[in-house]
Amino acid sequence: MARRAPRGTQDIFPEQAAAWQHLEKTAREVFELYGYGELRTPMFEKAELFIKTTGETTDIVEKEMYTFSKGRGQYALRPEATPAVVRAYLNQRLDRSAPFQKLYYIGPMFRHERPQKGRTRQFSQLGVEVLGSYSPLVDVEVISLGIHLLKAVGLEKTAVRVNTLGCAECRPGYRDALKGYFAERLEGLCDDCRRRLDRNVFRVLDCKVPTCREMLADAPRADQHQCDNCRKHFETVTATLDRLECAVEVDHSLVRGLDYYTRTVFEYVHGSLGAQDAVGGGGRYDNLIENSGGKPQGAAGFAMGMERILIASGAGEDEAALRPVACVVAVDDDCREYALATADRLRKAGISADLDFEGRSIKSQMKRANRVGAPLVVIVGPDEKDDQEATLKNMDTGEEQTLSLDKLPGAISNSPIIQTKETR
Ligand code: HAM
Repeated sequence: MARRAPRGTQDIFPEQAAAWQHLEKTAREVFELYGYGELRTPMFEKAELFIKTTGETTDIVEKEMYTFSKGRGQYALRPEATPAVVRAYLNQRLDRSAPFQKLYYIGPMFRHERPQKGRTRQFSQLGVEVLGSYSPLVDVEVISLGIHLLKAVGLEKTAVRVNTLGCAECRPGYRDALKGYFAERLEGLCDDCRRRLDRNVFRVLDCKVPTCREMLADAPRADQHQCDNCRKHFETVTATLDRLECAVEVDHSLVRGLDYYTRTVFEYVHGSLGAQDAVGGGGRYDNLIENSGGKPQGAAGFAMGMERILIASGAGEDEAALRPVACVVAVDDDCREYALATADRLRKAGISADLDFEGRSIKSQMKRANRVGAPLVVIVGPDEKDDQEATLKNMDTGEEQTLSLDKLPGAISNSPIIQTKETR
């Protein structure tokens, strides 16, 4: 039997899960603070959805999608959520009935990439999408929300890069300028980029091959070809971010590896991550809803990689997250069932309690209580069992007190040690 998880995936054990739960909880709080509601979409969609929206010539669709067929359908594990959010929005006809929506999602995505630090084949994203507005203030809200979230999880030092890619009006002129520039330098382009030249020249800007990258320094830039509306939009975005004291850096070389972006694009980058330094990224996608068959509606959003946030914030293992308030210790084998009944009583009163199931001696049960850091131990022996009682021991002071089972939960809740120790 294969014991290893598939390459590029991981098992998350309880000690690590605590950091994941904390991140999810913080993200939900921040998203809700800004008025976003959760949308849960399926883990797989028709493959065609991503081919048509993420883009046929993108790495994600060309190389990385996990596709499978069942019956007559061709499906893909979702490599990203934005197309799925738009699909769900159109499925509910929200473009007509309630076009303005602020949604968030948290969940796993799948891309067949070469695994390395911060890059896995199953990874999780936290994301937001605002649908139904062309306002540059939406871009600002989305970008600043991301900064707020990263600060809330301890990533104060994340840099934010922003750029503008133009719209349907000014992009054709930019496309022609790029084509002209690269056509004169064909010999320096990699094979992929030569193909991309005709299919989608913008992809060349995203190429990682060094000889292609060298050419980018002098390549035409989107801002040199943008129309007045795009210029005004971007000026409002940067000026308002400034007013909100969100430090961002305009980076005209920033292009994102997905096809649907228009106007503002941005990335959150963190130095500690090495080659995969983007903790998140996003942008505006004003044509996606219309191109997917809906009424024209502007939209913008971002997604962040949870693994990368956890790496950058140095989240480690947290044993304390599993620390019970009380360990119930059975004095001998005849008391084990009574010990479980005692723990049950505590749990039903909302007090976390744990006990031994391995037939350990009283000494090793006490040692274990010490090791897990339980502030209280509840000892049950033959006398306690006969009298429906238990002996409560304070692990700090060593103080002991025998109580009826009925009074035990109240005594624990009122114990000063519970008020002072951080326990669950
Ligand atoms: P993306 O840039 O492809 O954008 O992914 C967003 C983030 O997901 C990345 O910055 C990174 O942190 C994380 N990520 C991506 N691939 C991997 C991987 N293989 N392993 C670990 N983490 C990864 C999108 O997905 C867009 N849907 C964002 C968006 C939302 N744009 C508008 N709305």
